[in-house]
Amino acid sequence: MTRTLTLTVNRQSHRIAVAPETNLLHVLRNDLALNGPKYGCGLGECGACTVLVDGLAARACVLPVAAVIGHEVTTLEGLATPDGLDPVQTAFIEKQAAQCGYCLNGMIMSVRALLNRDPHPSKESIRAALEHNLCRCGTHVEILEAAYRAAG
Ligand code: FES
Repeated sequence: MTRTLTLTVNRQSHRIAVAPETNLLHVLRNDLALNGPKYGCGLGECGACTVLVDGLAARACVLPVAAVIGHEVTTLEGLATPDGLDPVQTAFIEKQAAQCGYCLNGMIMSVRALLNRDPHPSKESIRAALEHNLCRCGTHVEILEAAYRAAG
């Protein structure tokens, strides 16, 4: 049954008429036109749909929208500020980490989530944080180099 829910996404409040069990990815892409989070597997396994919920990584494709009421959701579109791109975005650009680029948004969000909880992670921590973000092009080396740069 459809209900009107209030969500906070990218620092803005939105009122949306939606069934509470609808997955967050669907709402972000189809109701809010935020296409940063990508649809990959739809099973919580590839990481393409990764967003931040209160600064932590979450798989939007398997998260009911009702679960984020009262929490702050951030998509790739919300990372940049008026001062410029997030340093993680800058590092991924500088390292030219993309091939097809489909996985990149989720990769960037996973690295941002890691840096939110550990500003100076080890290489092992970075690899662990990205372990479940899949890249079918096989550019993991460039992606890791970008993540190392973002971590300073
Ligand atoms: Fe959500 Fe693959 S689309 S984890």
